[in-house]
Amino acid sequence: MKKSIRNIDVAGKRVFVRVDYNVPINNELKIVDDTRIVATLPTIKFLIEHNAKVILCSHLGRPNGQVDNKLSLRPVLARLSNLLEKPISFAEDVTDKSTLEMVNKMNEGDVLMLENIRFYKQEEDNDEAFAKKLAKLADIFVLEAFGTAHRKHASTYGIAKLLPSVVGFLVEDELNRFEKITKNPDKPFVVILGGAKVSDKLPVIENLIDKADTIMLGGGMAYTFIKAIGGSVGMSLVDNSKVAKAKEILDKAKERGVKVILPIDNMVTTQFSAEADAKLYNSGFIPDNAQAMDIGKKTIKQFKKVIKKARTIVWNGPLGVYEYEKFRRGTYKIAKYIRKSKANTIIGGGDSVAAAQQIGVGKHVHLSTGGGASLMLLQGKQLPCVELIEDI
Ligand code: 3PG
Repeated sequence: MKKSIRNIDVAGKRVFVRVDYNVPINNELKIVDDTRIVATLPTIKFLIEHNAKVILCSHLGRPNGQVDNKLSLRPVLARLSNLLEKPISFAEDVTDKSTLEMVNKMNEGDVLMLENIRFYKQEEDNDEAFAKKLAKLADIFVLEAFGTAHRKHASTYGIAKLLPSVVGFLVEDELNRFEKITKNPDKPFVVILGGAKVSDKLPVIENLIDKADTIMLGGGMAYTFIKAIGGSVGMSLVDNSKVAKAKEILDKAKERGVKVILPIDNMVTTQFSAEADAKLYNSGFIPDNAQAMDIGKKTIKQFKKVIKKARTIVWNGPLGVYEYEKFRRGTYKIAKYIRKSKANTIIGGGDSVAAAQQIGVGKHVHLSTGGGASLMLLQGKQLPCVELIEDI
């Protein structure tokens, strides 16, 4: 277990909290989903109640080191201030001496937010001098940005090297959940993987192959596996450089008695478009001029049966072309069966989380606040800035 805010004295201290407020914001600069903001409230409230001076730092979007007013954190500041029922001050420019002056004037229990840290190129470069500048603002670093914990940036990794560092409640909770699910899952343990990028998911399968009872694959990544067993996939997404690896994994799973379920039927089209007419084809028989866009009804039925019996589920990645409404059916159906099941479930990754939110989730389902970070943990890797924090 990592040292957390519970294990240190924060009274009167300047506490730099790296949060992940990379929330969806529409053209009218309104926050569309504040889950990530709400998820940090227990930590911020704890710090306020324990008389810390709270400095919040986040990125929003990918401004590539340039100031972009559409990506200002001001809307987030307003929402957070509302949720906390407390005014929050705002520092426009972290490199300007006025920010340090503002920090030095803070009283115990005050909260200050820094403007989007990715307005500075030095952030993503993990620039040492920049990290030192950030560290000068504080006495303690709190990692509360689970969604960004896989990045080695100045405000995540650089600063954690310079200050006494601990995790916040959100990161602690995410780490505990992934630890339990990857090391000691209640059985049957079912892993559901989808999405386009097979290269991200192969290490997940390799890491979980000794723990899982069933691995179910869908989405674009599944067709590299179908090709690996000699099926005709037409123009479906295939990563040819990974076909041999996919075959090796399937053989390994067979040796160990782990069931790997690939789609047995698919919604197939001759064009990659939102309006394309789709026909149902059995896997391995997709015509040369066509491609799979979603899993078919026989596959959905098969997945349903396995989900019903599961006691632990991990799901990452959509099972069809989620950006097109017409091809979300498989993903929605799986979200629905998970809602009905009682299995301890973690869902990670933007589209699978969005589908689950759309369908509604029960208490047995945890929607992870990290896509890339959750994949890294499922791959059995350590998150770089978490590694810098002491164990207790
Ligand atoms: C996310 O939304 O996945 C995190 O905030 C990380 O964002 P990034 O992929 O732009 O680093």
